Amino acid sequence: MASSVFHAPCGAPSIKQLECQKYVGLRPSVTLRFNCVKTKTVTARRLVVTASKSHDGASKKLGISDAECEAAVVAGNIPEAPPVPPKPAAPAGTPVVPSLPLSRRPRRNRKSPAMRASFQETNLSPANFVYPLFIHEGEEDTPIGAMPGCYRLGWRHGLVQEVAKARDVGVNSVVLFPKVPDALKSPTGDEAYNDNGLVPRTIRLLKDRYPDLVSQNYLLVIYTDVALDPYSSDGHDGIVREDGVIMNDETVHQLCKQAVSQARAGADVVSPSDMMDGRVGAIRAALDAEGFQHVSIMSYTAKYASSFYGPFREALDSNPRFGDKKTYQMNPANYREALVEAQADESEGADILLVKPGLPYLDVIRLLRDKYPLPIAAYQVSGEYSMIKAGGALKMIDEQRVMMESLMCLRRAGADIILTYFALQAARCLCGEKR
Ligand code: PBG
Repeated sequence: MASSVFHAPCGAPSIKQLECQKYVGLRPSVTLRFNCVKTKTVTARRLVVTASKSHDGASKKLGISDAECEAAVVAGNIPEAPPVPPKPAAPAGTPVVPSLPLSRRPRRNRKSPAMRASFQETNLSPANFVYPLFIHEGEEDTPIGAMPGCYRLGWRHGLVQEVAKARDVGVNSVVLFPKVPDALKSPTGDEAYNDNGLVPRTIRLLKDRYPDLVSQNYLLVIYTDVALDPYSSDGHDGIVREDGVIMNDETVHQLCKQAVSQARAGADVVSPSDMMDGRVGAIRAALDAEGFQHVSIMSYTAKYASSFYGPFREALDSNPRFGDKKTYQMNPANYREALVEAQADESEGADILLVKPGLPYLDVIRLLRDKYPLPIAAYQVSGEYSMIKAGGALKMIDEQRVMMESLMCLRRAGADIILTYFALQAARCLCGEKR
């Protein structure tokens, strides 16, 4: 049966007008399945195939039948068509050389934007982003000096607005980091499991605004950080013994209480970032014992003792009071050790494995992606963010392009989700908003 093909408008934005999309080669119909209000006015075209009513309508309109056309060609009466274009000239002085005898020329598959888009292996979508947000007790938003564009957000105002902005461009996942008043910090970090503390209070507020309703598609995914450092008067992720040793099992006990308190407030995913041994299993058991079987654990599996965390520690005022974190965070020189951590986390019931920092540790992301079936997260940390911001501000690099490239590279290395301070900016870029 004959069929006709025609174009119909649809709501997806056209790739032409989205500069960043062009750059990352997004295929809108695949990747832009989110609540992006800005795309409503744009029309793109979609092919729709329907059965045709008339068999030979098209050729009849011109008054010549198919048979007549064919007969004309057979009789040597060839219709006109544009000539073969001349060979473009090379600049004067170009050496004349014999062609290299190559059977494979990879450039053939890169020769046009359409072909490059066809063969693109990795895509980037706002659905891949988790937006880390700093919160504090204040009413105002306080800029963070070392992280241009980032603020300590007032938990009742600035935070709620920022979450709304993120959701507008398809970022539905956030992770919360609290700036805790010094007076509430202690050596054992007990404020971490205060059900009325800043984080549980904020989770309750957000879940009240964005309730977990199947009918509304579960509007917001809240990740939390599980570690004692924002609550520790020593600025360490665990309890510090008088000789400076970070006590493992005692810390895990506190972390379990912290995770349960966050789950009780409505957290969707708790994320231990402390690097204590055995914490994933212990947290899983503690959550289950309290009826939080549905709460996920994203484990910071391979978290390195990195200098890239500097700006974050300024943001939260959480610098260790003494020493460093090298007895619990991993040595940046180590690769195989990530497998030891991943084996433990997988067997203890982690739902997501995270690698941190991101870009300097692409090999570790790829390693875990290849060895484990679980979703992989990458954390593009504060230092990575600040370097791109600084390079852009100094006009040494194109901030937006480097931002998008770095995120794409994390995806290419194997990350399913990316925790990034660029989440809002990058999602706006993917939505076609110029900033
Ligand atoms: C602490 C924590 C840190 C980060 C996330 N959670 C800092 C640290 O380990 O000292 C760093 C994030 C960043 O640098 O963006 N549990």
